Amino acid sequence: MNPYGRFDDANREYVITRPDTPLPWFNYLGCEEFFGIISNTGGGYCFYRDAKMRRLMRYRYNNCPLDSNGRYLYVKDGNSIWNQTWKPTRTKLDSYECRHGMGYSTITGAKDGVEVSIRYFVPIGQTTEVWDVRVRNTGKTKKNISLFGFLEWCLWDAMDDQTNFQRNYSIGQVEIEDGAIFHVTEYRERRNHFGYFSVIGEKPAGFDTSRDKFVGSVHGGLDAPAVVVNGKCTNSVAFGWQPVGVHQIDLNLAPGEEKRFHFLLGYAENDEKSKFAKSADAGSAKAGVVNKSPYHKVAKQFESSKAVDAEFAKLKDHWTDLLSVYSVKIDDPHVSRMVNIWNQYQCMTTLNMSRSASGYESGIGRGMGYRDSNQDLLGVVHLQPERSRQRILDLAATQLSDGICYHQYQPLTKKGNTAAGSNFNDDPLWLPLAVAAYINETGDAKILNEKIGYADKDNKDGATLMDHLELSIAYTLKHRGPHGLPLIGHADWNDCLNLNCFSSTPGESFQLAGDVDGPQARIAESVMIAGLFCAACEKMAEIYHQVGREADAAAVLKNGESMRLVVNQHGWDGEWFLRAYDAKGKKIGSHENAEGKIFIESQGWGVLGGIGLTDGKAQKALDSTNKLLATSNGIILQQPPYATYHLELGEISSYPPGYKENAGIFTHNNTWIQIAETMLGNGDRAFEYYMSICPSGKEQQIDTYRAEPYVYSQMTAGRDAPTPGEAKNSWLTGTASWSLVSITQFILGVRPGPKGLIVDPCVPKSWKGYSVTRKFRGKTYQIDVKNPAGVSKGVKKLIVDGKPVAGNSIPFDLGGKTVAVSVELG
Ligand code: GLC
Ligand code: GLC
Repeated sequence: MNPYGRFDDANREYVITRPDTPLPWFNYLGCEEFFGIISNTGGGYCFYRDAKMRRLMRYRYNNCPLDSNGRYLYVKDGNSIWNQTWKPTRTKLDSYECRHGMGYSTITGAKDGVEVSIRYFVPIGQTTEVWDVRVRNTGKTKKNISLFGFLEWCLWDAMDDQTNFQRNYSIGQVEIEDGAIFHVTEYRERRNHFGYFSVIGEKPAGFDTSRDKFVGSVHGGLDAPAVVVNGKCTNSVAFGWQPVGVHQIDLNLAPGEEKRFHFLLGYAENDEKSKFAKSADAGSAKAGVVNKSPYHKVAKQFESSKAVDAEFAKLKDHWTDLLSVYSVKIDDPHVSRMVNIWNQYQCMTTLNMSRSASGYESGIGRGMGYRDSNQDLLGVVHLQPERSRQRILDLAATQLSDGICYHQYQPLTKKGNTAAGSNFNDDPLWLPLAVAAYINETGDAKILNEKIGYADKDNKDGATLMDHLELSIAYTLKHRGPHGLPLIGHADWNDCLNLNCFSSTPGESFQLAGDVDGPQARIAESVMIAGLFCAACEKMAEIYHQVGREADAAAVLKNGESMRLVVNQHGWDGEWFLRAYDAKGKKIGSHENAEGKIFIESQGWGVLGGIGLTDGKAQKALDSTNKLLATSNGIILQQPPYATYHLELGEISSYPPGYKENAGIFTHNNTWIQIAETMLGNGDRAFEYYMSICPSGKEQQIDTYRAEPYVYSQMTAGRDAPTPGEAKNSWLTGTASWSLVSITQFILGVRPGPKGLIVDPCVPKSWKGYSVTRKFRGKTYQIDVKNPAGVSKGVKKLIVDGKPVAGNSIPFDLGGKTVAVSVELG
């Protein structure tokens, strides 16, 4: 049992029943432009579009205690002060519950006959957070209490906010108008946006905007703020230092009485002409007063709880709609809740956030990764086809005219990030995978004609998406090493296998050190990229078929075939696929090595690339993986770990054994092995692997696992680590999209193909059956799968609307709006 919480599948919520979870357990608010992260104790922050440049709330990453600062409400009841979120006072509560749902969290706490419940969400189409507060007197006597809503403003640029104190301590500014607090730092000069924090439905009895006044002095803390202890706001106006927003609300509650009100915490913009209030005359007292009309509009719209309810209902409907595109009925609770709820939800989060803002990603670091975002698309093309289309075009636009891509780009400017550079030689090959998935889903082959141009050329109406795809394939063909395998560049999917870097300067980026254009760098080769290339060729052929270019399809398939021959000759170690050749041409991932004898990535992509399917190599590679890398917590990245730093290998050997890329369980690549197993028909193994990293399955060992049991984490410590089985870096990981692909498309086996909907399950032999509802190209397929013979794979009968169909693909034109499909395995 998990002592910290449980799934409430019917409500699509995870219910946390104790605030002192092993790590902060987060959720996300927002689905379009305004987002927030929120932990089970109210920690976190929100931002408008870009977590680095437009951050509203100050959060202190890496603070002690962890997860410091957030959306707090203090209760002052006589001498006792507490938070319904438990933190920051950490006063013991009589009861506590946090419900993380789809785009909202509800945190409820009670003490001494007062119950406070707050639901936090971002209404669709708004740039505001609503904190919908209910306070109830559950006791038998009257209660006179004071509440204090609190947040601390971030001075917009989160990086500068945490580093540039000589400036920041002098620039903070607020305005207070009719009890609403406005954060207006830098508005007087070049900004035209401001933040607001207000109470609707109760008249505040006071406010504070100076943090020092709120906590008492610079030595005070949020655990016992002077204002709350004294029960009275000081109406402070912040000048510089740390501006906060605090509202005091005094309530008298009869026994059984409930009061409801809400806070609005939001972001507003004015255009340049109407930046300041109309009445502003230079030199007058009103000069420089912010024009608050955008806020007043929102406040008006949300003046009643009815509006809050209506907006919340819309948010719920939004998720019901999204999650109805693919759903499964199955008597396995893990598969059911991951597929129907949490895995899809996490995929949407990676689409929105890429790798920017989480409990582990500070929102100031990376831009959008080229390979990451292409892979993220695999899990969302069915949910968000239009946004996926745009994302594909944005990504392709960061490809350079020689075929390589900017490794990252900035979401606000959509420009390649020169600091991270290029020459990660796997990058281009993820594009054909994403585009094929998008076209198979939507049928929109017109996207191929979109004119995009290259990032280094001023020819915006030049190259089309098809040109980009062809160039991606050509890039690999052109950049091959002595064995004919693809050159690795700075790194392939494994960012830490840096075979051309030779970094000996502390702190320098492993990925960017080393000259990948020099002659020496034309030696290190990647078997993983070779496998990915073969798979990309298959996808390219699918794309060519869509537009009737059969000769080109045949040609690209031939390219894949030749690469398979090269891998057979130079990429096979006898029992498994080699991983790479280093810059001296020495093998990596071979039985000849003392450490790093076998790696997971080349086993996965070797098989996904169709290498060794007929001569037993594929099966052997997977058997070796099972024997040497598989554990009950997932499949380890490589074995044995590197005990010391290797100049010629780079960052992989920088990590202590068992963590991250040095023999950690990097869950992302586990999914490739799952899919590979389904290709060979090993349903039992595929599902065993699926379960070994399934977060919902970790509730039984949660004190070891520690991370959220409702979403995937990037990494679980491997058996060589001092803390095996411990997860880190939850939420923003490519594991989300690939796990969804693995379970829905390859294990449950329902996936769009170029000619129709494919139904090709590969399941444990013990599964009796399940049914999938799939909305696809305007039709709803009700697919009922039965497994009377207890097999793993093989469609014996496929009946579509009563008529038998040969094979395992349902042609597009078969059936009406609702299509009844029955499948018998055997
Ligand atoms: C991180 C990166 C991803 C990389 C992986 C393995 O998740 O975001 O791009 O493939 O690590 O190194
Ligand atoms: C580090 C991490 C890796 C990640 C990379 C992103 O190398 O180990 O997982 O992909 O940083 O830059």
